[in-house]
Amino acid sequence: MSLDLDERQRAMLAEMDIRVWWPRASAPVVTPEPIAAKQEPVRAGGQKASENRATPASQPGSAGIAQMDWDALQAAVAGCRACALCEHRQRTVFGVGPAAAAPGQAPQVDWMVVGEAPGENEDRQGEPFVGQAGKLLDNMLRAIGLERHVNVFIANVIKCRPPGNRNPEPGEVAQCAPYLHRQIELLAPKIILAMGRFAVNALLQDSVPEVHKLPLGKLRGQVHHYRGVPVVITYHPAYLLRNLPDKAKAWADLCLARETLGRAG
Ligand code: URA
Repeated sequence: MSLDLDERQRAMLAEMDIRVWWPRASAPVVTPEPIAAKQEPVRAGGQKASENRATPASQPGSAGIAQMDWDALQAAVAGCRACALCEHRQRTVFGVGPAAAAPGQAPQVDWMVVGEAPGENEDRQGEPFVGQAGKLLDNMLRAIGLERHVNVFIANVIKCRPPGNRNPEPGEVAQCAPYLHRQIELLAPKIILAMGRFAVNALLQDSVPEVHKLPLGKLRGQVHHYRGVPVVITYHPAYLLRNLPDKAKAWADLCLARETLGRAG
């Protein structure tokens, strides 16, 4: 993998407090795949909960969710009342990425980022990672040539804000995870970056025994798989904001993910 970085990427890394010791770039720099035309981004789940409430009887089970196309999935999340989180939310937060090529289809992306759950800002705007942690995430992604709305899909395990930003409860995760799993199936990303404990548990619970008991520090640094898709684990950006020295490890994780994708061709 080339680690040549241009000025812009170095600036991003500086902003992340990451010092890069490789020699200055001499060759052309890694840039994102050209995007034919910048399209309207997908900001699904933007409806106010009060505008689109399903009745409990209309709630799809996980078998129903597993059959949905992208548009049906977005609508199901927007109207979801499967757990008590719907009572407090302002907006559902489906995820964000480039626009799809055709109705019903998922956007085409190689990269997917999975976080935990919306916070206050995300609940208000209907888009994941728009607060301070989101700024850091955007900078981290830019450092490897990824841009929100353009060439990465960003989603959470949980689509509604847990009140007071508490941790999601196991029952809430169980109700919501089928949406994430269907998103992954439809997006078919080539690499997933799992950020933080809840993303890791949701993605690796079937492949890593007792994953919830293993420290993230032990799980990162290797490539895991979710239904055949490579998964690289890293720290949650909100954690990184409080633990600056671990940003260097997060940079190593991003490099591992980029290398893994490069190997997959
Ligand atoms: N933290 C997350 O995990 N996701 C968000 O969307 C915002 C903060």
